[in-house]
Amino acid sequence: MAKTFYIETFGCQMNAHDSEKVIGTLQHEGYTQVTDEDSADLVLYNTCSIRDKAEQKVFHRLNEYKRLQGEGKRFGVLGCVAQQEGEKIFEKAPFVSLVSGSASYRNLPEMLRRLEAGEHRITGLDDRQTDETFDTEFTARSNPHRGYITITEGCDKFCSYCVVPYTRGKERSRTSESVLTEARRMADAGFTDIQLLGQNVNSYCDPLGKMNFAEILAAVGEISGIRRVRFTTSHPRHFTKQIVDAIDAVPALCDHIHLPVQSGSSAVLRAMQREYTREWYLERISWIKSAKRDISMTTDIIVGFPGETDADFEETVTLCGEVGYDGVFAFKYSPRPNTPAVSMPETVSEEVKSQRLQVLLDRQREIQRDLYSRHEGKVIEVMVEGFNQQRGQIIGRTSQNKTLNFTTAQPVLPQIGSYVPVRVTKSLPNSLVGEQAGDAEVPAAVLKQAQPVGLVVLQ
Ligand code: 5AD
Ligand code: SF4
Repeated sequence: MAKTFYIETFGCQMNAHDSEKVIGTLQHEGYTQVTDEDSADLVLYNTCSIRDKAEQKVFHRLNEYKRLQGEGKRFGVLGCVAQQEGEKIFEKAPFVSLVSGSASYRNLPEMLRRLEAGEHRITGLDDRQTDETFDTEFTARSNPHRGYITITEGCDKFCSYCVVPYTRGKERSRTSESVLTEARRMADAGFTDIQLLGQNVNSYCDPLGKMNFAEILAAVGEISGIRRVRFTTSHPRHFTKQIVDAIDAVPALCDHIHLPVQSGSSAVLRAMQREYTREWYLERISWIKSAKRDISMTTDIIVGFPGETDADFEETVTLCGEVGYDGVFAFKYSPRPNTPAVSMPETVSEEVKSQRLQVLLDRQREIQRDLYSRHEGKVIEVMVEGFNQQRGQIIGRTSQNKTLNFTTAQPVLPQIGSYVPVRVTKSLPNSLVGEQAGDAEVPAAVLKQAQPVGLVVLQ
């Protein structure tokens, strides 16, 4: 009998990639993916609980669809909310039959079989202390050119505001051998762009003891056919000069580092248990700035952490000016269950949090306006991501991870997944606009790199 499933993913790239592995596993178990809840036998939500809003979304979604239970549909909650709320989900939403955290996905085939046998309250919640990672050969990658590889799972940093160590379990790394085998297999299948993932990607610790993070990064970048390698998310505590040296040495490593600072105030950083100071962080930034390549930097910031004063916040604003980020993901502090910060008295009102967020984003917009304008007139290589029919533009992404929308005078549109040189004609605070460069305009080195790759359709 045909079995169908629908899956919806909330949250970060780790979740997006976990879903690709879950989809591959389900397909291997004989399930077919469908695109709406109504036509699915099994409805799965892969959830995020990093902030309160993300968590609420899941319960809204479950409530919207509970009417379908009468039609014999089964519901499962996966991911961080599943791990955090555990069996309480069965009380809140009795029509849910499966609750599993990410550390238990290895056991999905068995859990599916129990589900099919009619069991009701199936849980995968007890694996947070595991040393195992979710390695599967059945990953269903949704993009045939760019793909994720998880190299570390979980987190042992226990920043005082963060739920991740409780939802994703202890930190564990895959062997360098298994990572490189997967990367080579992807290159053979036509992927040219790889993103190494981990909640704490640069604390990678090879169980074989062969490679540290900078070494595995360089090794992936040296695989024939791989043209772009990114990594996320790095922790400043484990950020080494060797990573910058690797980027300088290996052309396929992208000119972009995401290095979450969270706050520019050493006092707030201490309360957050981040294990570094403003000065310590800025030293890492100075390494990046002294690289031979022009490496773009982005960050995450939390405003309104308990105890954050106006002066502390001002230090965050000045830090953004000093660093010159190309992008900032800023969030209002959201108290999370089980974390040490939840018991700290909240000293910043919701209104002040919103004001600070706005001040930061306004300042950052000006910084980006300036930084993005520096690309005007330059020829940059982009990977073609798609087409915007309405605006008549081709959507490209630069090595620095910037969006560069462009037009072309060529008779044939470039293929999705190909690399083309583009002259930047205009800049906005969040994206660039350009025109495909003619061969004569392109520096020889860029031209050599810019041969289109074939369009590979998997399956
Ligand atoms: N409140 C607000 N933002 C948070 N983040 C993590 N936990 C919280 C929280 N409790 C932010 C951090 C992190 C990003 C993924 O989410 O900035 O880097
Ligand atoms: Fe959360 Fe800190 Fe771990 Fe990042 S490093 S996942 S912010 S505990």
